[in-house]
Amino acid sequence: MTVNRLDAADRAVHDWYRFVLSFPPHLVRDYLERFELASGQTILDPFCGTGTTLVEARLHGLRAIGIEANALAHFASTVKTSWAVDPDEMVTHAEAVAALALSELAGWNGAPLRSLANEPQALLLRDSISPLPLHKALVLRDALRTAHDCRWLDHELLDHELLALAHVLVNDASNLHFGPEVGVRSVKRSDASVVEAWLETVCRMADDVRQLPQAMPPATVHHADARNMGQLLRPVSIDAVFTSPPYPNEKDYTRTTRLESVVLGYVNSKAELRAMKQGLLRSNTRNVYKHDDDDAWVAAYPQVLALADEIERRRSELGKTSGFERLYARVTRLYFGGMARHLAELRPFLRPGAMLGYVVGDQASFFQVLIRTGELLADIAQSLGYEVVSIDLFRTRLATATKQQMREEVVVLRWPKRVRRTLPPAPMTRNRQSVRVSPLAPRNSPLLSS
Ligand SMILES: C[S@@+](CC[C@H](N)C(=O)[O-])C[C@H]1O[C@@H](n2cnc3c(N)ncnc32)[C@H](O)[C@@H]1O
Repeated sequence: MTVNRLDAADRAVHDWYRFVLSFPPHLVRDYLERFELASGQTILDPFCGTGTTLVEARLHGLRAIGIEANALAHFASTVKTSWAVDPDEMVTHAEAVAALALSELAGWNGAPLRSLANEPQALLLRDSISPLPLHKALVLRDALRTAHDCRWLDHELLDHELLALAHVLVNDASNLHFGPEVGVRSVKRSDASVVEAWLETVCRMADDVRQLPQAMPPATVHHADARNMGQLLRPVSIDAVFTSPPYPNEKDYTRTTRLESVVLGYVNSKAELRAMKQGLLRSNTRNVYKHDDDDAWVAAYPQVLALADEIERRRSELGKTSGFERLYARVTRLYFGGMARHLAELRPFLRPGAMLGYVVGDQASFFQVLIRTGELLADIAQSLGYEVVSIDLFRTRLATATKQQMREEVVVLRWPKRVRRTLPPAPMTRNRQSVRVSPLAPRNSPLLSS
């Protein structure tokens, strides 16, 4: 497990906000070195999460491009790669905002605590935050809003300070634990020093900014779907890819960021949550929809079809009939179909010889049928014209249900130096148009529009 931990030496910037799905910076570094990337070249992370690849890339003088469909993770990656803020100004502003929030909290006269409206509140995991820490976080959030409205906090600083609030909400104010599923602790935090923890976090961020090299190539982070990148990238412009897409299991990736997404206003209703899920790769039964048809992309892959059939056969043998269980076979086809679609879509943007690393884990969440994610992705990539260089073991994890050690691997691919004139066709049976979706609309900080 330690192989996945954030080393103390890597805390700067990476620690501004991370989640349980983040991979460690040292893994990215190993592959930047192995791919022999030179300063000024461009690396893409199409499932960039909280921006680990992008931050490391910038630290190494590379141009970085990220794509992320979860609005909160996109916001975190954007802030973590925005280093042109004045650290002294950031601390001065934060002290003023903290003073405003603390004076309001000190003057509390027993009036009802601040809380969320019913609809956003209903999106939270039950008891994920106790009433008093939530009240304090909302007082702080509203003090930030006031500071911005009064124009004594500019947009960039506001974003950094909001990310610090996201960090504090999860780490200092909530009752959440991550291990690796997100859950709620049995012993709840009835109170927390939210404003003080936030000010400390902002000061740490300012210290990090002071140490950062400023004249580095820029990073761009798109709030978009990695299965539909056509409008975002320039043809033949990407030298390398290093990424970790979701894995096919029962993890609802939006639960991991739910508390901070709701408090910061990135998700306000069931409809907004659904819209966010629709932009994600189908990897669990809670984000499968009637009209989904990514499975068309693997209609010609016997290995994926056989795997889905085995899962369905197992369901029938076990007599499992719930709606979720009936979807396991379909989600498996949709997952590999979505990855095939992504890999097919990526091809025109890669430079000849571009190196790619996909970090994925074997899974057994669907009736304990073993899904060799890395091997299957390598096969799909090969049939799309990629060369499979290696499948490296990154670490093993103990699967709680089966007590088996599951492999987490880096699938290393290369886009050929000499690309065949006719690329192998995308493995699909339906009209290409029918499986395209629009890129997600970019979003400004929702705090400003509410
Ligand atoms: C395993 S996490 C990546 C973590 C990242 N390596 C880090 O260090 O923070 C996978 C990410 O892919 C995102 N994602 C899922 N489907 C996506 C899609 N279709 N397009 C873009 N991002 C997607 C999820 O929201 C999640 O943040």
